[in-house]
Amino acid sequence: MKTIVVYYSNKGSNRYLARKISTSLSCDLEEIRPILNQFFLFLMNIHLGIKPLNNDISSYDRVILCGPIWMGKFIPPLRSFVKRYKSRIKKLVFVTCCGSTFEKKNEKFGHGLVFNEIENMLDGKCLFCQAFPVGLVLPEEHREDPDAFMKTHLNDDNFKGEIREHYDNLINKLTAPETSNLKG
Ligand SMILES: Cc1cc2nc3c(=O)[nH]c(=O)nc-3n(C[C@H](O)[C@H](O)[C@H](O)COP(=O)(O)O)c2cc1C
Repeated sequence: MKTIVVYYSNKGSNRYLARKISTSLSCDLEEIRPILNQFFLFLMNIHLGIKPLNNDISSYDRVILCGPIWMGKFIPPLRSFVKRYKSRIKKLVFVTCCGSTFEKKNEKFGHGLVFNEIENMLDGKCLFCQAFPVGLVLPEEHREDPDAFMKTHLNDDNFKGEIREHYDNLINKLTAPETSNLKG
């Protein structure tokens, strides 16, 4: 299955994850480049779209889209990518290194709401979504502490234990032969 990992990252955790996935799958990797890459403007929902990708999305069987969640939103660079390339995407998997925990995924700032939105936008082309709460690399008592997880970024030193187990499960799922038939 020809796969590309397409990602956007501000502080580096989703870049780390995207690179790791593309290495594990030996597949292509491309960064989404916003026309105006201004974090504060994104938070106010002001954005000018993204630059065209170098790779031809229609030539891939599967796109793995990777990027953060801010203020409970599907962020502008990722949304622009889906809008622009939707007709050329065959199947999509969304992966996020985010702040919200699995337990709070359906609360206002949880990743679950963003997952629902992506699945709706993709009209059945979203195979599944997977969160990697960055707090998984912290001691359990700090996992829900916004101050602690905002300052935490994935790297080779902390990518172990529980987060590594979730990652290995993701790679197994992505390399299992039946993945191409899974529905959201
Ligand atoms: C302004 C801001 C708002 C955020 N809001 C959310 C949120 O609503 N839900 C969530 O799960 N994580 C939230 N986060 C945490 C980010 O998703 C998390 O830090 C992510 O790993 C950043 O990815 P990056 O390092 O690739 O930029 C927020 C982070 C920032 C900076």
